[in-house]
Amino acid sequence: MEHKLFIIFIVANFFQAMAFEEKLTCNIFLDKYTVYVANLLPSGNPDPLTAHCASKDWEVWNSTIAANQNISWSFCNSFIGRTLFFCHLFWGWRDASFDVFNSKLKASCFGLVCYWEVRSDGMYLSGSYPPMNFKKMHDWNNPKHNI
Ligand SMILES: *[C@@H]1O[C@H](CO)[C@@H](O)[C@H](O)[C@H]1NC(C)=O
Ligand SMILES: *[C@@H]1O[C@H](CO)[C@@H](O)[C@H](O)[C@H]1NC(C)=O
Repeated sequence: MEHKLFIIFIVANFFQAMAFEEKLTCNIFLDKYTVYVANLLPSGNPDPLTAHCASKDWEVWNSTIAANQNISWSFCNSFIGRTLFFCHLFWGWRDASFDVFNSKLKASCFGLVCYWEVRSDGMYLSGSYPPMNFKKMHDWNNPKHNI
């Protein structure tokens, strides 16, 4: 009985390890993408940046991102994949909700990287790291309050 349980334990761990491994090293049919969300808000501003980032079945982050820090995660995306990650950001009275990765954004993330910078005037995307050619993608909500 104990032996059986032990074997089940080993097998379960093995599959868990494989599933984990697949997140990091994708097979030849899958591209590995990395999403970064970096806090480039003015240093010394009193409002923390809080982020909730998730996919349908993966809660990536629900906490603050410190100034000049980033969060990042990687995943495998199949050619015909429907992978989608979104972030909902909160900064003082402002907020913004947008996809950080989806099948349309793949073209913008040409370097297999979606590098998002959160600035006081909105969200900027670079498709490579080190970042270059930032493109403004979104504004904060409540723009009439913009300072
Ligand atoms: C994020 O965390 C806060 C508490 O820190 C909680 O109130 C909120 O419901 C969480 N949001 C999600 C979507 O899990
Ligand atoms: C993300 O932040 C870490 C510090 O926490 C830094 O070492 C790293 O260079 C940053 N990466 C990117 C891609 O900005």
